[in-house]
Amino acid sequence: MANNEDHFKKVISHAKEYGYIFGSSEIYDGLSAVYDYAQNGVELKKNIREYWWRSMVYMHQNIVGLDAAILMHPTTWKASGHVDAFNDPLIDNKDSKKRYRADVLVEDFAEKQEVKAQKEITKAKKRFGEAFNEEEFVTTNARVIGYREKKAEILNTMARLLEAEDLAGVKKLIEDLGIVCPVSGSKNWTEVKQFNLMFGTKLGASADTATDLYLRPETAQGIFVNFANVQKTGRMKIPFGIAQTGKAFRNEIVARQFIFRMREFEQMEMQFFVRPGEEMKWYEYWKETRLNWHKSLGLGEENYRFHDHEKLAHYANAAADIEFNFPFGFKELEGIHSRTDFDLKAHEEHSGKKLQFFDPEMNESYSPYVVETSIGLDRMFLAVFSKSLQDETLEDGSTRTVLKLPSILAPIKAAVFPLVKKDGLPDVAKEIIEALKWDFNVLYDEKDAVGKRYRRQDAAGTPYCITVDHQTLEDQTVTIRDRDTMKQERIPIYVISERLNHSISYQQWLS
Ligand code: GAP
Repeated sequence: MANNEDHFKKVISHAKEYGYIFGSSEIYDGLSAVYDYAQNGVELKKNIREYWWRSMVYMHQNIVGLDAAILMHPTTWKASGHVDAFNDPLIDNKDSKKRYRADVLVEDFAEKQEVKAQKEITKAKKRFGEAFNEEEFVTTNARVIGYREKKAEILNTMARLLEAEDLAGVKKLIEDLGIVCPVSGSKNWTEVKQFNLMFGTKLGASADTATDLYLRPETAQGIFVNFANVQKTGRMKIPFGIAQTGKAFRNEIVARQFIFRMREFEQMEMQFFVRPGEEMKWYEYWKETRLNWHKSLGLGEENYRFHDHEKLAHYANAAADIEFNFPFGFKELEGIHSRTDFDLKAHEEHSGKKLQFFDPEMNESYSPYVVETSIGLDRMFLAVFSKSLQDETLEDGSTRTVLKLPSILAPIKAAVFPLVKKDGLPDVAKEIIEALKWDFNVLYDEKDAVGKRYRRQDAAGTPYCITVDHQTLEDQTVTIRDRDTMKQERIPIYVISERLNHSISYQQWLS
């Protein structure tokens, strides 16, 4: 198995080679942290979105959908706190003229302590062999304890300084730790400044009358401002949820790690409105429900973990991330936040409109509390794609690259081949395509030897290959080859559809 860095490089090149992801406007040398989804990528992305939508909206009678506009009244972002507080602390290096997120510089430095601790653990593992007890070692070895204490101390100091908005203190911390610019190697830093992450734009044609707007940095606010509309027209009763998928924009300064952190990305968010006082019960419910959704895809339960937030945003009374084991380690994939009544109250205050619910059982009106689930569609794409991409050594010693996407998410469900390009086999294969295309995304391929065609579809992530051969002409059967087991089976043509249906049944996957 290639190391993580190599695997990540392979993920990026494979995504390009097999028509999943291209850099944006590549012919002009691209635009940093903006990506285009290609012929297979757009299908995978659509299927992930659909898998989320069905599990959230169709599986819950009390959750409905919404598609709010990207452009919203500018007061929205004042009320939500984004105008004042959606900032990153930035610092420039005067020699390289490079700009960094100050907190990321410190985090990266702190992470080096963990790397040192890991080196000690690896060394000890080698030395003690079978007898090595890692749990005991990390709790007793003075070096490991020292490195980890130093890391915690650095991170705590930074969290304290940021909370106090002590930007001069953050700069001093960077200087005290001796952090150098990765490009120039110098410690010649500017002051730390706050930088708002929202993209501005203008509404209107003339410069003097145009209104300043923002591209939404999260989809959630479109749900909050529509709370009363949806509640009334849908006759929704608490508890109920509103789900939405759509683009969000953030002027990320440290945009890296491929589609993990983008400037234009897509979110899948759901706001669940509950009675005040019941939010913790629902918070726990959604943590579990969302983790189960991830596990349902079969990418390996060991690849998920919760990270409960200790430091909470001003509007939250509980928050956790579902972290995924990406090629660069465990990182946030989804957030579950108990957002109290902060947003609805803030919009009430700024708009002067009532955003409350009259609870007939309690015979009173109140501002509901909100539990939010928020996942990045692109990040989910990266999670699925990176874990599915595998190099395998086969029994005969040969190797293959296979993209073991869950079949429910695979862009192409089946490829249909004529064994050879003659004897009427292409016509039969095309007839099968014509019959299947109404229900499934299928692909016809007659180029190259059949073995090569199998490998091509393995690498593209197609779960089934159906081959029409001379026997098909006699008994109306074909072979169906499973991408993961590589086993072939002979089945009648009329059974193909049933087979494919079974492999992409939401009931099979989601229940
Ligand atoms: N409404 C809450 C909210 O937006 P967030 O933690 O800022 O919370 C939620 O974002 C999710 O959106 C993250 O867990 C991540 O999956 C995704 N996300 C956030 N910023 C992103 C970016 N720059 N690129 C790709 N995905 C991003």
